[in-house]
Amino acid sequence: MHDLLTMALAKGRLADQTFDMLEAMGIDCSLPRNPGRQLVLDVPSASLRFILVKPSDVPTYVDHGVADLGVVGADTLLEAGRPLYEVLDLGFGACRLCIAGYPRRTNPTVQHATFRVATKYPNIARQYYGRMGETIEIIELHGSVELGPVIGLSDVILDIVESGATLKANGLEVLDEVCPVSARLVCNRVSLKTKRESMQRMINGLKSQLK
Ligand code: PRP
Repeated sequence: MHDLLTMALAKGRLADQTFDMLEAMGIDCSLPRNPGRQLVLDVPSASLRFILVKPSDVPTYVDHGVADLGVVGADTLLEAGRPLYEVLDLGFGACRLCIAGYPRRTNPTVQHATFRVATKYPNIARQYYGRMGETIEIIELHGSVELGPVIGLSDVILDIVESGATLKANGLEVLDEVCPVSARLVCNRVSLKTKRESMQRMINGLKSQLK
């Protein structure tokens, strides 16, 4: 007897790479790969239901138990700070969470009374500078964060760096690495107990795909 498992996936590359792994396990992902405007995608042959959501919403769905499993970047998980059970590092989506800015942290364009950090990750930034005992002002942005120092809005950024091309193109560089990032499989703690066998089968299946 297979329980129906609901999986929350971050729309885009992380979802596509999750489908690659599931297909290698013999699960037909043709419907969730091409969802159109449909938000809930059922694959009855595998007792699976997918919901495709914004990355930052994946921890919310799993924490509330409306999704049993989720695939999301370690950066998003750290920022969300929810009590989820992280079961696997899936390896893909690898990048680094970094502090970046002009060399030696000096912003040639402007001086601020309080050191300013532009970021999509206010909680991580608060923790990072809190550990250093530094007082900062957080400027929350939702994209093109590199603009912060370039245009004089902030001194540095805390953001993900993948190839480093965006930093380079804007005259910025990595000043410190906060942590490495990759896609993680997370589980709802209650589902792990109530749907134990099905959850374990899925976790083991994905684990067997890891190189
Ligand atoms: C991400 C990130 C950096 C860039 C890093 O932005 O916020 O801007 O990718 O990648 P790179 O090191 O390979 O240049 P994304 O492309 O998701 O768009 P956004 O800036 O609108 O968030």
